Amino acid sequence: MTAILSLRGVTKSYGSGDLQVQALRGIDLDVPEGDFLAITGPSGSGKSTLMHILGCLDVPTTGSYELAGVDVSQMSESDLAHVRNREIGFVFQQFNLLQSQSALRNVELPMVYAGMARAERQDRAAEALERVGLGDRLDHKPTQLSGGQQQRVSVARALVTNPTMILADEPTGNLDSVATTDVLELFHALHDQGRTVVVITHEADVAASAAHAVRIRDGRLSHEAAGV
Ligand SMILES: Nc1ncnc2c1ncn2[C@@H]1O[C@H](COP(=O)(O)OP(=O)(O)O)[C@@H](O)[C@H]1O
Ligand SMILES: [Mg+2]
Repeated sequence: MTAILSLRGVTKSYGSGDLQVQALRGIDLDVPEGDFLAITGPSGSGKSTLMHILGCLDVPTTGSYELAGVDVSQMSESDLAHVRNREIGFVFQQFNLLQSQSALRNVELPMVYAGMARAERQDRAAEALERVGLGDRLDHKPTQLSGGQQQRVSVARALVTNPTMILADEPTGNLDSVATTDVLELFHALHDQGRTVVVITHEADVAASAAHAVRIRDGRLSHEAAGV
């Protein structure tokens, strides 16, 4: 299998001088296409920093990162934006939904940025919301939805562009156990359709449901068997 993500010696430091923080200290990682990988680790270990690099939201200080065989450090900002919009669906702990907009409109947004016509956008957004079980909540605003439903809206937003990879940072961190199970089932369904899913979590039971897991501690990875 080809690696869709390949990192070699990736480091990331923030700040400078006495205030410098070494968030990543040399990460080597290959993620095969179609994998379901969990990245676990305690608070402050570098999980979100790694997610930002994997998602092309930030670049390594040193080391290399290839996404689908392309060296990300050689890409222009517009190429990176294109990759983020087309290849990656993001899911965050805080849902990151626009509070004043309906579920439908929130899911339409990535397609607005992609310049798609309104009618097609709305059809696709409604279809994505049906897939996550919210076909009857299209006009609800985030405040009118439970946490688990809001996270399902953000999963719909992540999948509506048909990305090759879903990248999630603590997607169940704000959810109760029932909603956690719902969201994990959605990720498994996306994985079963052939998508690569990378979930960053500090919850052992979430990691245990993945096909593979790696652990990060003080900016370094250790590989371990699934079912940690
Ligand atoms: N923008 C930033 N500026 C300075 N330090 C940061 C920044 N982001 C993260 N850090 C530091 O980098 C380390 C790793 O943070 P992070 O990747 O957010 O960890 P995690 O997601 O595992 O909790 C922590 O020590 C954190 O304080
Ligand atoms: Mg984090």
